[in-house]
Amino acid sequence: MPKPGIKVFAPASVANVAVGFDILGFALEKPGDEVIIREGSSPGLVISLITGAGGKLPYDIQKNTAGYSAYRLLEHLGETDRPLEMEIHKKMPFGSGLGSSAASAAAGVFAVNEFLKSGLSKHEILRFAVEGEQIADGAFHADNVAPSLMGGMILIRDNETLDIKKLHIPHGLCVAVIYPHVEVLTRESRSILKPEIPFKDFIKQSGNLGSFVAAMYTSDFDMIKRSLHDLIIEPQRAHLIPYFYEMKEAALKCGALGFSISGAGPSMFALCDNTGVAQDILEQAKSIYKTKKLHIDTYYSKINHEGAIRF
Ligand code: HSE
Repeated sequence: MPKPGIKVFAPASVANVAVGFDILGFALEKPGDEVIIREGSSPGLVISLITGAGGKLPYDIQKNTAGYSAYRLLEHLGETDRPLEMEIHKKMPFGSGLGSSAASAAAGVFAVNEFLKSGLSKHEILRFAVEGEQIADGAFHADNVAPSLMGGMILIRDNETLDIKKLHIPHGLCVAVIYPHVEVLTRESRSILKPEIPFKDFIKQSGNLGSFVAAMYTSDFDMIKRSLHDLIIEPQRAHLIPYFYEMKEAALKCGALGFSISGAGPSMFALCDNTGVAQDILEQAKSIYKTKKLHIDTYYSKINHEGAIRF
């Protein structure tokens, strides 16, 4: 009989949000990953079970995002010899653009932090989760991990120091997410990006980001709509996503405040000011992709304010 443990959930997230490449992301209500931590029988952390990953995830702590983020926390606490057993239950797809590896990393570190009752805050353990996710895509950015762990919509002033701010969420803001079943690996989706951007695009995009943040604080949906444009990343990645522009046009016609790629893709998101619009967009998506004979999953969500939770 396994010893009793604790179970945590960390949600999927939408990164970039059209205007904040690598520095903006928000948490969804679902899907997400679950991690169980219990006392082990020999010194050190081991992964005893992984489900839902189709055999694709390593059991080696140093190579597993959930395992490594938890290990980094144990190192920080001087507890690497503590006998611990981890189960990882993947409840969301890989390479979906919904922060799958980030959700595992957030769940892993959060579960150990709760189990050990370390007293460290979510912000204090964030760095370990980002280091865990870094194993998956090679880059150090918290735009998925921070919302997955801490909830809400998070603006990252600086990824290195993890200087972050949870933004105000206007009442009624919700999201429609469409995940077409094609795999886009973040590492590859990053490698196609040009290292330089034209000066005029920089100016416009800075305007969009600044005004988006201001509009969030003043619940100014018209300004959110005018701001949600990605001149820089979306045009470079749209070709990775089947029928992206067709779907975008349909979403904007339905009344979306904005529509763009979720993280590195292939998922897409539409921010909306009411549930009806979001549901219409999801119906449109089902009809478009059915005609194209491409399977999709759809999710409707409010912004998840909690992030990782024990349940
Ligand atoms: N900001 C990241 C990207 C999110 O778009 O590459 C995916 O990890």
